Amino acid sequence: MNFKYKNDLMNGPVRPGTAIFLFEGDGLPEKRPELSSFRRCFGTLLESGTYAGRHLETVTLYFPVDDTFLVLVGLGKREELTEARLMEAAAKGASALVDLELKEGYLCLPPPEPHGNHTKLLGLMVMGARLGTTKQKNFKSDSDERSTLLKTKTLHFQFLGSKDPLEKPQNIINRADIMALAQLDARYLTDMPPNLMYPETFANEAKRLALRNKLRISVWDHDKLYREGAGGILAVGGGSSHPPALVIMEYDGKPDSLTPPVAIVGKGVTFDSGGLDLKPADSMLHMKTDMAGAAAVLAILQAVAELSLRQKVLGVIPLAENLTGSGAYRPGDVIKMNSGQTVEIVNTDAEGRLLLADGLTVAQKYKPSCLIDLATLTGACQVALGSKCAGIFSTDRDLKNLVVDNGSSMGEMFWELPLIPDYEEEIRSKMADFKQAGSRSGGAINAALFLKKFVRPPLPWVHLDICGPARNARNTPLAPEGATGFGVRTLLNLLTGMSLRT
Ligand code: BES
Ligand code: MN
Ligand code: ZN
Repeated sequence: MNFKYKNDLMNGPVRPGTAIFLFEGDGLPEKRPELSSFRRCFGTLLESGTYAGRHLETVTLYFPVDDTFLVLVGLGKREELTEARLMEAAAKGASALVDLELKEGYLCLPPPEPHGNHTKLLGLMVMGARLGTTKQKNFKSDSDERSTLLKTKTLHFQFLGSKDPLEKPQNIINRADIMALAQLDARYLTDMPPNLMYPETFANEAKRLALRNKLRISVWDHDKLYREGAGGILAVGGGSSHPPALVIMEYDGKPDSLTPPVAIVGKGVTFDSGGLDLKPADSMLHMKTDMAGAAAVLAILQAVAELSLRQKVLGVIPLAENLTGSGAYRPGDVIKMNSGQTVEIVNTDAEGRLLLADGLTVAQKYKPSCLIDLATLTGACQVALGSKCAGIFSTDRDLKNLVVDNGSSMGEMFWELPLIPDYEEEIRSKMADFKQAGSRSGGAINAALFLKKFVRPPLPWVHLDICGPARNARNTPLAPEGATGFGVRTLLNLLTGMSLRT
């Protein structure tokens, strides 16, 4: 399905399938002569209180005289509108249009206030429409590829009440669409069954995408990891017949320049059984999602190339399967990390920080300007912040604010948790430089403090614990049950902003 811009609304005929967005309590929208044939009908609907415009309240009206469908989508109260709510409304409107199986649909956008400008609003609506209308892959033996193809070929976006507010609207649409498609890629990679998606197959997928997008890629296999002394990754991957790997991807949107790259590291545990400290069945059920950070990094690198950003970006993706085979690491082991530091293992289920620590070490060899990691790291973070908000830890206030602000303008929430120096006591070890984990109390902070041991100051670093928002427990307008691709939009927006500034 294509997304197009079309702003001939002022005098065009009534379209056969149109979605419009209404604020709660706004009453009948004015200044829209083209909708005059509907006015009486949905005017009555509003007056009678049958339709109030509550958030995501949706009705589809049919007008037999014109053979026309009108979809009304509620935006809720004006003062309660958020970026995420706008995207959800767009998703609702787009999927209602797609359900009508018309060849084309029209999304008529509200005036942008109070949420930014036309550009931002259009971008959010496009992303919402893409995320809300794309079906998830499944493996049903009777599934027909064609059934996932939508009858609707084009959705047109247009603004209500303004003639031509934008300079290059199609560019805005295309860029927003690339961001949404990247998020869908991340979901797809994460939701792949873990018997099919393991370190080697993930690395192959990364190679395929790198080739398509002219990204530099190198893949460290088991022997290379051994030669390089990546003891954290090797320990975690030891218990699986699928050997661990490390993927390094480079995008150079500024050839001939000495600017350092932005480095992004993603946790890629393709399945987390907990290892010898085995998880109980309920906790293990969704552990194919433990590579959400890795999938996000791969999707981001691909999108950064498609967007042709003027920026250098480095993606580092440590991959392993945490199982219980005879090579599995054990509580009590002391391992030597890629940085040369030694770690005493206390719980094989705290595997993510070992992978990440080696990933962070490798990333720093490229002398990045800043370092960002994404990981489904601790259940504790999900307990603290729930499923719509990620934890953010940082050694640099500016970088932290940049991530938080880009998150909020992309409808993704991040909340800062503190790196409390006194808690470092939790990971003090008699046997090694550090213990791998502390007590349950402050679990998300202890994990972040462990990672911090592998980041050399003054390099600005943020750690994003996406344990909660990486997976949706139920269907929502923007994402079905399953992986969400959280973080992709935020970081792509951040990188886009950086590329514009330089
Ligand atoms: N992958 C898990 C964290 C997780 C939990 C992700 C729930 C998604 C949903 C991580 O590897 C883990 O097991 N963490 C432990 C750490 C503990 C053993 C110190 C945890 O959070 O319990
Ligand atoms: Mn674990
Ligand atoms: Zn894990």
